[in-house]
Amino acid sequence: MAGGDHMVMDSGGEPPSFDTSVAHVARVYNYWLGGKDNFAADRAAGEQAIKAFPEIPLSARSNRAFLARTVRFLAGEADVRQFLDIGTGIPSANNTHEVAQLVAPASRVVYVDNDPIVLTHARALLASDPAGATDYIDADLRDPQQILVQAERLLDFSRPVALMLMAVLQHLDDEDSPYQVVQTLVDALPAGSYLAMSHPAKDINAEAMAKMAASLNRMMAEKVTFRDRSAVARFLDGLDLVEPGLVQASKWRPANESESASPAALWAGVARKP
Ligand SMILES: C[S@@+](CC[C@H](N)C(=O)[O-])C[C@H]1O[C@@H](n2cnc3c(N)ncnc32)[C@H](O)[C@@H]1O
Repeated sequence: MAGGDHMVMDSGGEPPSFDTSVAHVARVYNYWLGGKDNFAADRAAGEQAIKAFPEIPLSARSNRAFLARTVRFLAGEADVRQFLDIGTGIPSANNTHEVAQLVAPASRVVYVDNDPIVLTHARALLASDPAGATDYIDADLRDPQQILVQAERLLDFSRPVALMLMAVLQHLDDEDSPYQVVQTLVDALPAGSYLAMSHPAKDINAEAMAKMAASLNRMMAEKVTFRDRSAVARFLDGLDLVEPGLVQASKWRPANESESASPAALWAGVARKP
């Protein structure tokens, strides 16, 4: 798709289901990660953001690496077999079900995103190991009840679930009641469940991040609200943070020196519901 803008048809030949003339975060993020599922408007917004904060592509990669380490921890050490991954993004390397099912093939993963371009990639997300299962829900994080009702198609909410909110809560501004949204989701999970999250930081590379936020908010359909460490920590209130706590994404159990040294303007953590 990177060759230029054109009408986008879904696999059934239906009319275009999304607008390529305005930048959308799933596609801008795909651009930063070096993917091909983006259009001129997305690349322009992505480039403007790079001007403001040149390390954003590396930061996006650090976030993906954090996601993979987290899922390995959840499926391995934490022995969780159910995942609810909200704000999935366009499939990339190390999608949640791939990482989880390498550790535990019976893992069940429900993906949720509100961007129709992610929906068009649902088939890749639904290619589950036969021992496990995956599902895709086209829904908005601002309507957590709707997500919970549909997630019950695949997940058993009487057993631990790992709720994953990776680089998505910045798209809920304070008027969207983000803390209440997260609380509603966490309330639906039994004890022994986990919340794994990353959130772009207002207080890491503060000046560049502020410039980048302003640029994205001019050019992108989904607005961003970056938050500082204490505002991000509030999402985890009442939960028990696992080691090393809420840290810069690259510092959460890095696999090697290069992961640890990678720039990452995100706060990240994993916490267990007592
Ligand atoms: C920056 S990407 C992160 C993708 C992936 N979670 C990761 O960390 O690599 C944010 C994703 O959240 C989705 N998103 C943004 N606002 C959302 C909302 N209100 N409800 C559901 N998904 C949303 C976007 O469409 C996009 O795919």
